[in-house]
Amino acid sequence: MPIEIAFLGAGRMAAAIINGLIKNKHYTPAQIACTCGDDPTGSVLAEATGITYLSELTPALKTAHTLVLACKPQQLNQIDPSLAEATKDKLILSILAGTPLKKLQSRFPSARNIIRSMPNTPGQIGAGITAYTPAQKLDLEDDQRVKTILNALGNYHQVEESQLDAVTALSGSGPAYLFEFTAALRDAGTQLGLDPLLAHSLALHTVHGAAALLIQSEQDPETLRDAVTSKGGTTAAALAVLSDHDFRQLIQKALHAACDRSIQLAEEN
Ligand SMILES: NC(=O)c1ccc[n+]([C@@H]2O[C@H](COP(=O)([O-])OP(=O)(O)OC[C@H]3O[C@@H](n4cnc5c(N)ncnc54)[C@H](OP(=O)(O)O)[C@@H]3O)[C@@H](O)[C@H]2O)c1
Repeated sequence: MPIEIAFLGAGRMAAAIINGLIKNKHYTPAQIACTCGDDPTGSVLAEATGITYLSELTPALKTAHTLVLACKPQQLNQIDPSLAEATKDKLILSILAGTPLKKLQSRFPSARNIIRSMPNTPGQIGAGITAYTPAQKLDLEDDQRVKTILNALGNYHQVEESQLDAVTALSGSGPAYLFEFTAALRDAGTQLGLDPLLAHSLALHTVHGAAALLIQSEQDPETLRDAVTSKGGTTAAALAVLSDHDFRQLIQKALHAACDRSIQLAEEN
């Protein structure tokens, strides 16, 4: 069976996409190939999934319609230069954080179309959210291909490239804010006298359960917040402290800092 989709990089994100594509029966392992750098991630992934590992992707690109760029952004400068020619008329989907379309277009000038995307870490378990921007309007077939690949990481939205710095600040870095918030809940519980392991479990499952309820109920966060906040009660006492310390303004400042840094990094790229 000919290779239809080739992966440059075989790390965590490539593995998540490939496992999702196979699990959802969008591609068979025989239709997927990957390559990697100096470590054996490619052969390990091929062994685990049944896809083909190639030390260089050019032969696979004779039949493949799509190349997924899944190495680290700083590794883009080290990739096989012959790929510029081999990707003539191919669709390229990049998941490289902070790598502008302009730079991707200069590396792959003959590609049919290039998509820059910004996934986030929950994509590793299929629970991510990705924003993406095509260099040119996607035709129907490529639109479907892109959605199929991104669906392996979770949900997705098409945005303008100018919005990707704000996206990075919200959903790209967002999981880290939640991890930090979870750790803060755990530490505050421990400080109130709870056993650290119990505080850890309570914090973890509170964040997980609250997020699942938000998604399942389809209500906005303020409505769910108000539903558990009775006047003069415990939640109201805690929320008053957050409000007195400008919690929302603090989050706004944090996202602005992330967005500014994303703009800076793209300029350096
Ligand atoms: N991890 C996340 O949750 C996340 C979230 C958002 C965006 N991203 C983006 O996703 C991309 C991949 O991240 P990751 O976490 O999957 O990275 P990773 O686990 O470190 O994997 C990187 C892969 O690229 C391969 N590679 C290195 N140099 C190469 C070269 N010259 N040619 C071909 N392949 C090469 C590596 O091979 P060897 O190790 O065998 O050398 C490895 O298989 C990054 O650009 C990152 O910005 C990741």
